[in-house]
Amino acid sequence: MDRTAQLTALPAEPAIAYDPPPAADSPQARAARVLTDNWTGTSTVPSRRLYPHQWSWDSAFIAIGLRHVSPLRAQTELETLLAAQWADGRVPHIVFNPSVPLDAYFPSPDFWRSSTAGRAAGAPRTVQTSGIVQPPVHALAAWLVHCADPGLSRARGFLARVHPRLAAWHRYLLHRRDLGGGGLASVVHPWEQGMDNSPCWDAPLARVTPAPARSFRRADLDHGAAEDRPTDLDYGRYVRLAGDYRDRGYADGPGEFAVEDPAFNALIIASEHALARIAHELGAAGTARHARAERLTAALVERLWDPAEGMFFCRDVRGGGLIEERGVSGLIPLLLPGLPHDIAAALVRTLAGPHFGLGDTTRLVPSYDLLGEAFDPHRYWRGPAWFNTSWLLERGLRTHGESARADALRSAFVRTADETGFAEYVDPYTGEACGALGFGWTAALTLDLLHLPPGHDVSRTGTDTFDRSDKGGDRA
Ligand code: SER
Repeated sequence: MDRTAQLTALPAEPAIAYDPPPAADSPQARAARVLTDNWTGTSTVPSRRLYPHQWSWDSAFIAIGLRHVSPLRAQTELETLLAAQWADGRVPHIVFNPSVPLDAYFPSPDFWRSSTAGRAAGAPRTVQTSGIVQPPVHALAAWLVHCADPGLSRARGFLARVHPRLAAWHRYLLHRRDLGGGGLASVVHPWEQGMDNSPCWDAPLARVTPAPARSFRRADLDHGAAEDRPTDLDYGRYVRLAGDYRDRGYADGPGEFAVEDPAFNALIIASEHALARIAHELGAAGTARHARAERLTAALVERLWDPAEGMFFCRDVRGGGLIEERGVSGLIPLLLPGLPHDIAAALVRTLAGPHFGLGDTTRLVPSYDLLGEAFDPHRYWRGPAWFNTSWLLERGLRTHGESARADALRSAFVRTADETGFAEYVDPYTGEACGALGFGWTAALTLDLLHLPPGHDVSRTGTDTFDRSDKGGDRA
């Protein structure tokens, strides 16, 4: 059945999941309104003006919140994204909406040329996409979406439809992207890891010759303040890397930029655990996937953990060695239940220490070291606090029994998101809004945090991807 026929065959939407329904002036209602305003009919834009298409990891985070408003729309969100998967298994970082003018976003479809340049890698013909990827939050999202309404999910065959695509996605990452040969996936562009201008990329990016400024026109500056966004020099390098990858037919292999990132790999691992749950729900064994997730956790520690600094660092696969910059990415593995206890404890100390200031100097977790030379509280991923990373860390704190810190982070998250009109990111000290307002994942993840009562133990519930008493098993 083609996509349109599939969508028209959908059953009627189930009633809103709130009991009782939220008051019109509640944070829930305001967050749900953002998701309604950003919904296009088959997916949700991160922001109507700054990001007017479908983004991969945004959609996964959005689905996690959307499941509390409409499990059907949450399923559709993920299925729309996965319908644009390439034959080699990659899930593109942007799926373009053909009704949006070309100059509304750069790089536009005519830059990526997915259907021609991506032909050998199996780009779809029916939809235009970018050719790079984003962090694999999708299996985790699919499992959580299923858990919101298992009856609807089973009736629609949701997991049976998404499972093969998710499995192919993970295969692509773990086989085609193991560029360092140590079992972890590498990103080949900072946009793939999602924290575009993080100081963690400065050293590997310095080797890249920027594309000439006159060869492209940024559209982001039409909608966002220049001091909140990456610089023109950053963009020159992003364009060069993406253009070179495109000109190689999006073939993976030797290239100028390859980095093993802790958050990207931690999300593969969390999603492997989720795929195990999905497989089990579909009647297959998930044991091998849980075991693989544990092996990947060991590889993550082996290749990226720095015991002296108490956090994970990125590994520059082309330049060799760890990049000793403290980005929030290096704390995200806290999400993993299989992390050795001493490592989880060290991560919590780093999070609450002077470099990130949680529970002390900051409201929400900064994207970069407060004491780092490159720290800038407003410039995109060089310091501001983002809501998706705080959501992941809230979950990590809870997974490792730090419920008081998790409760405090949750309250600060909800208050800051609501007060700023669901900003894209905020000054980590003051909570001042930066970037776009009415941002999709900020609203969605607020809904998710509001849905579960404080003190809820994610490690011990059937709605979770894993629990600590069940590391290798298949119990749902
Ligand atoms: N985050 C990038 C942008 O701002 C690309 O995914 O455009």
